[in-house]
Amino acid sequence: MEETLSKLVRCGILIPENHRDRTLAPRWFGDVATHVRMLWDYTRTSAYREAISRNVRGKTVLEIGCGTGILACFAAIAGAKHVYAIEESAIISVAREITKANGLQEVITLIPGNSTDAELPEKVDLIYSEIIGINPLEERLIPTLSDGVSRFLKPGGTTMPSHFSLWVAGIESDLLEERYLRAEEHTAVVERFSEVYGLDLSSIADHYRESVIQSLEKEKFHRNVGGMEPTSPLRSGERILTDEACIRMFDLLRLPREAPFRKELVLQARRSGTHSGTAMFFKARLDELTTISTSPFAPVQPKSWAGQVIQAMPPLAVSRGARIHLEACFDPSVSRDIFFHRVTGPT
Ligand SMILES: C[S@@+](CC[C@H](N)C(=O)[O-])C[C@H]1O[C@@H](n2cnc3c(N)ncnc32)[C@H](O)[C@@H]1O
Repeated sequence: MEETLSKLVRCGILIPENHRDRTLAPRWFGDVATHVRMLWDYTRTSAYREAISRNVRGKTVLEIGCGTGILACFAAIAGAKHVYAIEESAIISVAREITKANGLQEVITLIPGNSTDAELPEKVDLIYSEIIGINPLEERLIPTLSDGVSRFLKPGGTTMPSHFSLWVAGIESDLLEERYLRAEEHTAVVERFSEVYGLDLSSIADHYRESVIQSLEKEKFHRNVGGMEPTSPLRSGERILTDEACIRMFDLLRLPREAPFRKELVLQARRSGTHSGTAMFFKARLDELTTISTSPFAPVQPKSWAGQVIQAMPPLAVSRGARIHLEACFDPSVSRDIFFHRVTGPT
């Protein structure tokens, strides 16, 4: 009996009288402002709404990471037979208010906790999720969906996204070139400390150079101010320099493993210029009609992700047609970041 009750609690069907969602570990996504930023992104949210609405009628579905519950409500309104919605952060208390305010609490079962610890009372026809980070692998989309597919999906069921791929393109950026030059100037001053103070202070210069490189390596930015309309994928002073190259493609129905990888990528310059940054972006195929992407090649971009541009060091002048050889490295046991460095080039 006790075991059955605790199973019903884990599934979110029973809620203990003294349950408080705020007892869940406080996490980044427990903060409502983070979710407002995502809802502010109408391009993202409406893409999911359209794909969900086309694919859920009469189906039992699972949402992994429901946040405020908005996508679960879209699924319920579009005629899903039942929606299981799992959320690990304290924002689930807002999802509870939203589902109740919209009279959808009979169709939506909210389940607190991480999906990899959850159990469902039945298998589902569709698993959908928007756990895509600005650094695209940061929120563990691949291992989480893979776990969901293996344990919760009926044979013949589908996932949304069904396919997820990671890409890069070389860009020319006035801002990154200026940052690099400023860092070079500062490092040159620190390298003169030994001479100025009459001591061997070279190890300070070495550490400083290392810390400057680390701080330059990643540039994340958001464009979440203003209205809800999509935004240009490039900042002012940024120009696309090369063609795109694919880092990785994941077919999410095929239980992809998130193994470490090293991959050599070739970026071909579309014109002469300076390779000062590498833009990393994703393409997530929600269904046959909708793909969302943070590609700098798209005229507009969903603004909650904006883009991730990694400083290319040092900035490198290339001629039209030249090939820049990069290596992308990922080891999830060490970091959720993908690291890039130039191996040779240009050729
Ligand atoms: C990017 S937000 C999206 C929220 C909501 N689905 C939306 O589209 O507005 C991702 C949410 O998933 C939750 N999350 C991520 N991985 C999860 C997991 N494995 N199990 C449960 N919740 C998870 C996070 O706490 C966060 O609230």
